Amino acid sequence: MANGSSDNQASNQMWGGRFASGPDAIMEEINASIDFDKKLYAEDITGSIAHATMLAKQGIITESDRDQIVAGLTTIRGEIEAGTFTFSRKLEDIHMNVEARLANLIGAAAGRLHTARSRNDQVALDFRLWVKAELKRTETALTKLISAFLTRAEEHAETVMPGFTHLQTAQPVTFGHHCMAYVEMFGRDRERVRHAIEHLDESPIGAAALAGTPYPIDRHMTASALGFREPTRNSIDTVSDRDFALEFLSVAAITATHLSRLAEEIVIWSTPQFGFIRLSDAFSTGSSIMPQKKNPDAAELVRAKTGRINGSLIALLTVMKGLPLAYSKDMQEDKEQVFDAAESLELALAAMTGMMLDLTVRTDRMKEAAGSGYSTATDLADWLVREAGLPFREAHHITGRAVALAEKRGCTLSELTLDELKAINPVINNGIYSVLTVEASVASRQSFGGTAPSQVRAQIAYWQKRL
Ligand code: ARG
Repeated sequence: MANGSSDNQASNQMWGGRFASGPDAIMEEINASIDFDKKLYAEDITGSIAHATMLAKQGIITESDRDQIVAGLTTIRGEIEAGTFTFSRKLEDIHMNVEARLANLIGAAAGRLHTARSRNDQVALDFRLWVKAELKRTETALTKLISAFLTRAEEHAETVMPGFTHLQTAQPVTFGHHCMAYVEMFGRDRERVRHAIEHLDESPIGAAALAGTPYPIDRHMTASALGFREPTRNSIDTVSDRDFALEFLSVAAITATHLSRLAEEIVIWSTPQFGFIRLSDAFSTGSSIMPQKKNPDAAELVRAKTGRINGSLIALLTVMKGLPLAYSKDMQEDKEQVFDAAESLELALAAMTGMMLDLTVRTDRMKEAAGSGYSTATDLADWLVREAGLPFREAHHITGRAVALAEKRGCTLSELTLDELKAINPVINNGIYSVLTVEASVASRQSFGGTAPSQVRAQIAYWQKRL
């Protein structure tokens, strides 16, 4: 059989020394991880090359062994990338598939590669390298999404829309301000990604099975060759630890939760009832029966993918919960959760970036809605405090009566006549009308971080510099 995998009844060629027979078929089925951990082939080969190079430098293997090992591993990388490598379940995982093939290619020298290491530190290394690269991809994807929001915020720093609490019209805001709320959210996610990269930036290789190794290895050398800041400090922790995977999943879950809120708003805003936005054809689908429909499928799927991603976090937390130190095979269940969450998150971020850049903002509909629902009632109350010196609670009460009257008459606050307003409270004068429009309401909110266009522009400038 290809790659030197053993035949049915024989014991495993990698660890079978004390075994008289091979595993039961079910054992092989539950034990093998190759179907998913082959994704780690590049990290596995890079890690092995760094390890072999260090072993030779330290005089633990010969330079000729090293050269054969490096050449063999390079050939294997080529075979995997060309699709000519045969993966074998009998060889369990990527580590043993690669090593068995190396033995086929170079013979005895292959057996020296595993000196001073174990699959426990090897898998910790491969997976850490993969998660680190994925976190960097996430960081880039978040930067793209943030800059899409900045573009829309700049265009719409003055576009008024209703702001909501409890999804009830609250006070007018600008669409730019709303976009910048997402910039803050995804900006925090990007910071969390960066912290996660900092936390995991320690090299596990050389911890060996759990106790370190009697060989005179140089862990600082492998750490720097593999782009890590430093080696890990405790060999037991090193092979027990999957915090880097949990941190990736936590960051992914929080980001996905943010994306689901955006997705939900897109779904609501694109309904004919709201009509705040129009999705591009590129990010929506039609109905096979109702010709008038345009469905926000991409947004709905982003909303749903949050379920998978959050589920992956809970799954791995549960795998790790209660595990004794150091390595246990339970930990093999870490990879599929991370791979699945990573794929879902990458797709969700890309879809949302595309949607945000493509959607049409219906400024007319937003403006119309911004003025409905007595959204400037707080401005009326604030005017009474500022201009007539009333305590806010009293002003609130008077405003409530004005809203009740407008409701009865079926008009907006600014459509009430001065006589009607004076009848509610005689301190009211003509000046009141200057604060009852949505534009005036928005422009007045100049407090730091408020919705006034000047504030929104200041926040956009801050983020443009920070990106
Ligand atoms: N495939 C294993 C995993 O993903 C590699 C480590 C196996 N170590 C062991 N002692 N059996 O966790």
